[in-house]
Amino acid sequence: MDKFVIRGGEPLLGTVRVSGAKNAALPCMAAALLTDQPVILENIPQVRDIQTTRNLLAAMGAEVELGYGRAQHRTTIHCATLPSPEASYELVKTMRSSTLVLGPLVARCGHARVSLPGGCAIGSRPIDLHIKGLESLGAKIVQEHGYVTASADRLQGAEIVFDKITVTGTEDLLMAATLAEGETILQNCAREPEVADLADLLNKMGAKIEGAGTPTIRVQGVAKLKGAKHRIIPDRIEAGTFLIAGALTGGDLNITNCDPAHLDAILSKLKQAGVKTKSTPDSVRVMGDNPFTASDLNTEEYPGFPTDMQAQFMALATQAEGTSIITENIFENRFMHVQELVRMGADIRVEGRTATIRGKSQLSSAAVMCSDLRASASLVLAAMVADGESILDRVYHMDRGYERIEEKLRGVGAQIRRMRNVFADRRELAAVEAH
Ligand code: EPU
Repeated sequence: MDKFVIRGGEPLLGTVRVSGAKNAALPCMAAALLTDQPVILENIPQVRDIQTTRNLLAAMGAEVELGYGRAQHRTTIHCATLPSPEASYELVKTMRSSTLVLGPLVARCGHARVSLPGGCAIGSRPIDLHIKGLESLGAKIVQEHGYVTASADRLQGAEIVFDKITVTGTEDLLMAATLAEGETILQNCAREPEVADLADLLNKMGAKIEGAGTPTIRVQGVAKLKGAKHRIIPDRIEAGTFLIAGALTGGDLNITNCDPAHLDAILSKLKQAGVKTKSTPDSVRVMGDNPFTASDLNTEEYPGFPTDMQAQFMALATQAEGTSIITENIFENRFMHVQELVRMGADIRVEGRTATIRGKSQLSSAAVMCSDLRASASLVLAAMVADGESILDRVYHMDRGYERIEEKLRGVGAQIRRMRNVFADRRELAAVEAH
């Protein structure tokens, strides 16, 4: 497994460009299942989860082309026929958002078989709301042997109220509803920009969707969808991670190709912490100026503060003067980074869903373990202000959602390098050759 070696103490200076949003790209790739014509997606981030989705779609019979060179952020997905509308446990266990194919498959093929995801490092991640919603649209659902099988002649429009706000649940049902007969009204929907981006693509494909980005989405079902070309929105979580990196290291960082309108909650928290930022329509400049002020934080659904930025904000809180209280309201177990930050010298106590951080602590370098994607990001941030050289193990978690993070950070002055596990590379190569 690859490791990162990071030497702390360098301010980040210069310009860093944000990639396309992983969490918008994943549902948009799944949306290509809804049509027999090619869907072209631009600004696709080159991260592991995109590769996994590519494998998932290819296993169903889709042709998935990833561009090269200057076109490396473009993918063309052509699902002319889908002989095998299934998502296996092998793929779903490594990426829970694979369940996003359930709605589109049953809508297009009348049949889908998808592995149940099970728990993961950040919580239990059930999909009961996806299943309940598809049943309301008339799908017959059977759960056995760890798989969910959905079938329907044609889905029927319905009024669905989500018991709880769910991002991929909203996306899954939105995709299913585009090909249902009649009108579907989805209530208590997730308002994340990634949901609105998916709806944009679906409308370009011929769907009739109104209200995406608000709690109520109306969909008039159509008989068929066509191919389309779409550019994925910038990754607001990657942008937020760079904002904290610039602030923490006392740097002066210009974060380009982002959408500051999606960063409101993050920018206002940074302001409370005493961090100076300046936005243009597609960039934010952050000027780090220690000391930071302690401030409390509650994670919420969009437009609240994102759970995907909680771990990174905690790294900042370790460097603020005073006590910060962080409450994680979305996932029950998203504090796996705490023990590693404590090993680096942070003063953090966790009780249930609340973490109390007392700062400012001088962080010291250590060998630490990444447990999930955003936890890894918080450890990278902490290591960049720790004294000495830290070693981060299991950075494959980071590779799931951050594109060439070490190159981007090195480009603005961070001392970070990747130590490759050549033995793992050889095993991977042998596995590829064996196929
Ligand atoms: N939930 C249910 N039943 C369901 C679905 C969700 O009880 O059927 C619960 C979950 O257990 C959780 C809450 O609802 O407590 C919210 O979960 P949600 O369904 O919104 O999460 P998700 O769609 O599985 C997406 C992102 C996550 C991000 C969350 C919250 C994608 C591919 N993933 O997950 O991103 O944390 O929304 O914003 O969009 C990440 O990028 O690191 C990541 C984990």
